[in-house]
Amino acid sequence: MSSNDSDQNEMDQNQAPVIDALAEHQKLGRYGFTPPAHRQGRVVDPRVLEVLGEQSFKADVVASSGLDDRKSSNGYLSKAEELLAAAVGADKAFFSTCGSSLSIKAAILAVTRGQGELLISRDAHKSVTSGLVLSGLQPRWIKPRWDNELKMSHPPAPETVEEMWQRYPDASAALIVSPTPYGTCADLEAIAEICHKRGKPLIVDEAWGAQLPFHPDTPTWAMSAGADICVVSVHKMGLGFEQGSIFHLQGDLVDPVRLNQCADVLSTTSANTLIYGAMDGWRRQMVQEGKAMIDKALNLARRVRTDIEAISGLHVLEDELVHEEASHDLDILHVLIDVSQLGISGYQATDWLRENCRIDLGTNDHRRIEAVISISDDDETADRLLSGLRALVDAAPSLPRPPAVVIPDEKDLFLETVMLPRDAFFGPVEVIPVEEARGRIAAEMATPYPPGVPLLLPGERINQAAIDYLRSGVEAGMVLPDPADPTLKTIRVVREEP
Ligand SMILES: Cc1ncc(COP(=O)(O)O)c(C=O)c1O
Repeated sequence: MSSNDSDQNEMDQNQAPVIDALAEHQKLGRYGFTPPAHRQGRVVDPRVLEVLGEQSFKADVVASSGLDDRKSSNGYLSKAEELLAAAVGADKAFFSTCGSSLSIKAAILAVTRGQGELLISRDAHKSVTSGLVLSGLQPRWIKPRWDNELKMSHPPAPETVEEMWQRYPDASAALIVSPTPYGTCADLEAIAEICHKRGKPLIVDEAWGAQLPFHPDTPTWAMSAGADICVVSVHKMGLGFEQGSIFHLQGDLVDPVRLNQCADVLSTTSANTLIYGAMDGWRRQMVQEGKAMIDKALNLARRVRTDIEAISGLHVLEDELVHEEASHDLDILHVLIDVSQLGISGYQATDWLRENCRIDLGTNDHRRIEAVISISDDDETADRLLSGLRALVDAAPSLPRPPAVVIPDEKDLFLETVMLPRDAFFGPVEVIPVEEARGRIAAEMATPYPPGVPLLLPGERINQAAIDYLRSGVEAGMVLPDPADPTLKTIRVVREEP
């Protein structure tokens, strides 16, 4: 709990200052000769309004000299941020409208001042690792635990973080992802203690953890575990629009002014009030009803897990994700399903469900698919998922056998960083056939998406196992959004003098 608990507890959580200000803006019929030029939708094409809704244009107003006056003297936004910090027990909270992708970069820059070394878990999302390209930092990779049976990684063990601090005591901070896109969680309490013993801050990418502060039976959320900054995507597990993200901050290892200024340097000057409004209203709803809503979602997730497990050919991962050698905890709302017994890949299963059942799933790989249960789901949506999965099982024998994906052994999985990611990315490059890339230094990222953890990063020396995995993955349906050639027949590497 934060130092300003008593002030915070006195705050009236029934307020939603941004939502109320938007309502007032509409009631008073304010009119701005300022952006947005659509003037709350006056002449927008009815075909657009039919899809996007008139109200979305009405609520899209500029933040100052619109929602608030030119000096922001009513402080609607800062009040909304204070209410959120109070609701969750952080010292401070800041809203961002550019996703956790921006927030995490701002957090990295604020903590490191863009210099030196950062301890960073190698299972970080590409939005985090792209912060290395931007900042010029030297990554010191914390190895996640690797499960050779499941061919997937788990968040790093506290002992590994301790070893990394012993090797790199001058690093500015440690950065850990928890929960991961699979819902697996690190032992954040132990890791925070290890960092704090050295007076160093812990940054947590908690993009998937918006619900955690509002229910005691979810994995420990980063602020309660003692992290210094955590970054949350409200749109992933909360009720925000896409791009709504929050920084939470506590303690005195991170300067809130610097954090705010780093976010300011990276952010848009035209933040979308719809995003602010939805986050503000979501916080009020979570304070008032969050516990009951999350209870319902957890019960639904338990039911869905049992019902999927009962379908022949499908297996829901649970116990194998949480044990001493695996993750510390699991967010059961992430329902990770192994489809390999059906003789099809996760890519095929995902495509088939979209094509035939109008059901979309997120994370998928050569043998798994994932359905994330949210507080918006109910028995009806769960039954839709279950009937889709049953239909998939029936259809599986008629689907073609997938090409094999060559998964690297643990010893080949973690590539050596031989150059700063920024130098490799921005320096001279050449484009070569991927067959010739072994031993060369990558100048671009290659990220199987989703979940979005780059296999190759700029500055890493490419090995044969990485080439084989990515090429065989693409043949089997893996999506690589970031290489210049998404088929990876060619690759951008650092140009080296002969
Ligand atoms: C672990 C993790 N961190 C960060 C991000 C980026 O979040 P956002 O989409 O809000 O920019 C994602 C997105 O999927 C993610 O999975």
